[in-house]
Amino acid sequence: MSVSAEAQANTVLILDFGSQVTQLIARRVREAHVYCEVVPFHAAAAALERLSPKAIILSGGPASVTEAESPTLPAQVLAAGVPVLGICYGQQAMVQALGGRVTKGHTREFGRAEVQVVAPCRLFEGVWDDGARHLVWMSHGDHVDQLPPGFEVVARSDGAPFAFVADESRALYGVQFHPEVVHTPDGRALIENFVLKVAGAKPVWSMASFRETKIAEIRAQVGKGKVICGLSGGVDSAVAAVLIHEAIGEQLTCVFVDHGLMRLHEAEQVVTLFRDHYNIPLVHADVSELFLGGLAGVTDPEAKRKFIGKTFIDVFEAEAKKIGGAKFLAQGTLYPDVIESVSFTGGPSVTIKSHHNVGGLTERMDMALVEPLRELFKDEVRALGRELGLPDVFVGRHPFPGPGLAIRIPGEVTKEACDILRQADAIYLEEIRAAGLYDHIWQAFAVLLPVRTVGVMGDGRTYDRVCGLRAVTSVDGMTADIYPFEASFLSRVATRIVNEVRGINRVVYDYTSKPPGTIEWE
Ligand code: XMP
Repeated sequence: MSVSAEAQANTVLILDFGSQVTQLIARRVREAHVYCEVVPFHAAAAALERLSPKAIILSGGPASVTEAESPTLPAQVLAAGVPVLGICYGQQAMVQALGGRVTKGHTREFGRAEVQVVAPCRLFEGVWDDGARHLVWMSHGDHVDQLPPGFEVVARSDGAPFAFVADESRALYGVQFHPEVVHTPDGRALIENFVLKVAGAKPVWSMASFRETKIAEIRAQVGKGKVICGLSGGVDSAVAAVLIHEAIGEQLTCVFVDHGLMRLHEAEQVVTLFRDHYNIPLVHADVSELFLGGLAGVTDPEAKRKFIGKTFIDVFEAEAKKIGGAKFLAQGTLYPDVIESVSFTGGPSVTIKSHHNVGGLTERMDMALVEPLRELFKDEVRALGRELGLPDVFVGRHPFPGPGLAIRIPGEVTKEACDILRQADAIYLEEIRAAGLYDHIWQAFAVLLPVRTVGVMGDGRTYDRVCGLRAVTSVDGMTADIYPFEASFLSRVATRIVNEVRGINRVVYDYTSKPPGTIEWE
């Protein structure tokens, strides 16, 4: 068990039917200070036994309950006798399991809709008044057209007469719309009513209690053993390291593999923070020549990623051997990496990019993993970082990829190109911070293109490289929208970069969302 006994006794189970936004349900439940876990629908039986949840939430999903091969509601869900909230596909699966009827839609209803409250419901208490109309977000094809015995409609919309249905006596609720997305303004309060008022879960999930429980758990797992942790400069590995250090002190050694592909002053910042501020034993492996030497002449993005990943592990392994006898490897793995996503296609997914991590090391070196952040979402890791006293500027940092600047320099990566990019990137981020925009953006960075263009500066001709600027908003990095800067902001940044950075004479802004683009350029 990995959360405090009290939080565990107040768990909500979320069954995933493959919706793109299942994780947002978990976010909303945790915001009510209730612990929850997301489990694929077919693993319901084991999860129910393991967790004894206070309530169950059924996610949406891409399938149609009207088709024979689509997932059905596992029998154990209703047998558990706890409150159930079915969302979209979850509503339809529950209604069908209880003897109601779902009809296949010929058109999809997608986007904003208004529902009208037509009967009282415990989920509405303090949120929605009788007769009032409220904005919700719909995204569905099929719809319920006959309710099972015991159910009544409590809110309806023009397009969805069964928008919100309830059987109060059994505490079963079904919504056609998506309360978990921010486009349903009262969705969070409805979910909170469900978990706190209807299910009676106690709001005991907090970062302070998580920190205490984790520390005890790390001590129990590690005993007197030595732990080694790779620091990337990112928030996750830093928070993991500080937490583990609090638990086991000098038994932890951190290794910072400085591959020369960091941003401006990043290496010094990490070393200073850990060695001087936290007094955490830190090996600073300056191996930039090894990396840049190996990258010479390499232009293929996957070849770069593979080389960097492999060399990182080689260096890490060599440093770990020098320390001698580390039995445990600590990693900042987060919950979104752990959740097993439900695939309806059955086939393996396509590799878009080979992500870099230190996996594989555990087998090579016979080490066990310590992953104290496995239950947390990114913003919860940030909250834990603050709880542990990490400086705000560090905790709030944008994500930075393991392969570093190498994947922001399409074409060959050289020290000269890295130096040029570091300066442009620093100017861009300085301006973003000065404009107060840093915390509104998921990730912003500069890219150095292998293209040269002609310019004119003063009376002279220039023939220099192009710098691309990227800034996106995102919830989890899986999808992203471009950040819509004011034109005056972009032109200020462009002017500064061209004037201050030798080697760049043109700046462009990347207007591609993800999909179809990816966030990084390689
Ligand atoms: P993409 O480019 O795939 O990136 O849209 C999604 C998010 O992942 C980050 N990223 C990485 N992070 N190792 C990492 O630790 C990697 O190899 C890696 N590649 C991409 C990227 O910065 C973005 O936040």
